[in-house]
Amino acid sequence: MKNVKIGTNVTISHYTNLYGCELGNNVFVGPFVEIQSNVKIGDNSRISSHSFICSGVEIGENCFIAHGVMFTNDKFTENRDEWIERTTSIGNNVRIGSNATILPVKIGDNVVIGAGAVVTKDIPNNTTVKGNPAK
Ligand SMILES: CC(C)(COP(=O)(O)OP(=O)(O)OC[C@H]1O[C@@H](n2cnc3c(N)ncnc32)[C@H](O)[C@@H]1OP(=O)(O)O)[C@@H](O)C(=O)NCCC(=O)NCCS
Repeated sequence: MKNVKIGTNVTISHYTNLYGCELGNNVFVGPFVEIQSNVKIGDNSRISSHSFICSGVEIGENCFIAHGVMFTNDKFTENRDEWIERTTSIGNNVRIGSNATILPVKIGDNVVIGAGAVVTKDIPNNTTVKGNPAK
């Protein structure tokens, strides 16, 4: 763990790789999680084991990220040498099911994302989506 800003009452399990990120109060991080630089995680949010949270992702408060959730921060361009970082924002009270993949999108508040979903588009507040592509 390197350069991590940690709030109060935060739990970080063993076997995690966290660097340059910011965790709010009462955040829980399960084992085998990687959280990259510039990620922010809001108060009371929970990141379950085996999830990967890359640079460019911001997660709000009271969120539940289940197991093996994968975030991304680019979309691949035709030129393989070119890399454009894209961002993802997750609102408050969002629940993301196990093994979901989140492309760079904006997700509102009170959203539920089904297990195994592939999220390719923005999701408005108070919505449940599932499937690939998630609808
Ligand atoms: C998406 C979800 C919230 C929907 O819950 P629900 O409203 O109770 O859904 P239902 O079980 O009534 O199923 C409704 C329909 O959606 C389908 N469905 C349910 N979950 C699905 C999913 N994750 N992906 C694709 N389809 C799904 C069902 O097959 C059913 O289809 P049908 O109408 O053709 O029969 C829930 O199934 C889910 O995926 N929760 C995440 C659980 C999780 O990952 N927990 C982590 C714990 S560690």
